[in-house]
Amino acid sequence: MGQNVLVTGGAGYIGSHACKALKTAGFVPVTFDNLVTGWKEAVKFGPFAQGDLLDRARLDEVFTEFQPVAVMHFAALSQVGESMSEPGKYWRNNVCGSLNLIEAAVDAGCKNFVFSSTCATYGDQDNVVLDENSAQFPINAYGASKRAIEDILRDFQVSNGLRHVIFRYFNVAGADPDGEVGEFHQPETHLIPLMLDAIDGKRDALTIFGTDYETPDGTCIRDYVHVCDLVDAHVLGLKWLQDDKDSRVFNLGTGSGFSVRDVIDHSRNVTNREVPFNEGARRAGDCTKLVSGSSRAVSELGWNPARSTLQTMIADAWRWHQTGHYSE
Ligand code: UFG
Repeated sequence: MGQNVLVTGGAGYIGSHACKALKTAGFVPVTFDNLVTGWKEAVKFGPFAQGDLLDRARLDEVFTEFQPVAVMHFAALSQVGESMSEPGKYWRNNVCGSLNLIEAAVDAGCKNFVFSSTCATYGDQDNVVLDENSAQFPINAYGASKRAIEDILRDFQVSNGLRHVIFRYFNVAGADPDGEVGEFHQPETHLIPLMLDAIDGKRDALTIFGTDYETPDGTCIRDYVHVCDLVDAHVLGLKWLQDDKDSRVFNLGTGSGFSVRDVIDHSRNVTNREVPFNEGARRAGDCTKLVSGSSRAVSELGWNPARSTLQTMIADAWRWHQTGHYSE
């Protein structure tokens, strides 16, 4: 049997793909999830321990039972818009929950921690390619909560020797090409799945949130990364820690920016269908442009984001969209 890795949020979109990648790499992914936004059916690659990060006693039980060699921490609330209207939820769940998890890991003697952070910690720095040394000025409570957890990890490194790899994700998209797991949020807020729903009539037209941004076509620009490439980086990050390398921050993006209109055009080409859309107002909390300077993950971790072309991400998402779904 391989070594146990505790995967919080392992029943969610990115966490479930991480479980598959861990299993493929010879680890045993132990999913810890409260199933508020995750899906039991997505737990396919290792044991499941249901629980909530705010329940410290449950966390202690799980550390005692499974003795994980590392934690991969995905569980979080992640809707930018909701974080603006209900910030307390984000600070309590994301920050207090992560603090519980970090303290439980330290008390259990588990010293390797891989953390899912976000480019939303950088905030709106127009026309700048964001690398790991860029200043962090989040403009929404979601990003602020993730930045706070990064700070907590640095403090526990000093106090308790908890070593960490922090990954700051850009826009994650796509699905497992084998169709075992995929993206299924309830409610859905992300551009690509909403667009695929509009394409096959599962919902009304897509609304473009803002066409008056200072970008070439007026719509927001994002850097999209394939979920399978993203979780491969996490396995590399885990090995990095197991090789006793120093705690490190890595951006995960490709360095290429695509506007909302670019994504619409690619979706039309991939699916061979029309994309029904209309043009609406800006969404609160959205940054104009988020593009990664991500050479560090490539040069230091040996990361190869081979599936992260817009074409492949949309094609994989489309295949999942048509065949795979969890029960509602
Ligand atoms: N968009 C639309 N219409 C929609 C949905 C999205 O035009 O119906 C636009 C957004 O305005 C944005 C782009 O499509 O410009 C991408 O939006 P998503 O909601 O798919 O992703 P975000 O960029 O808002 O959010 C992602 C992650 C967050 C992370 C954030 C960083 O989902 O977890 O990037 O800003 F915090």
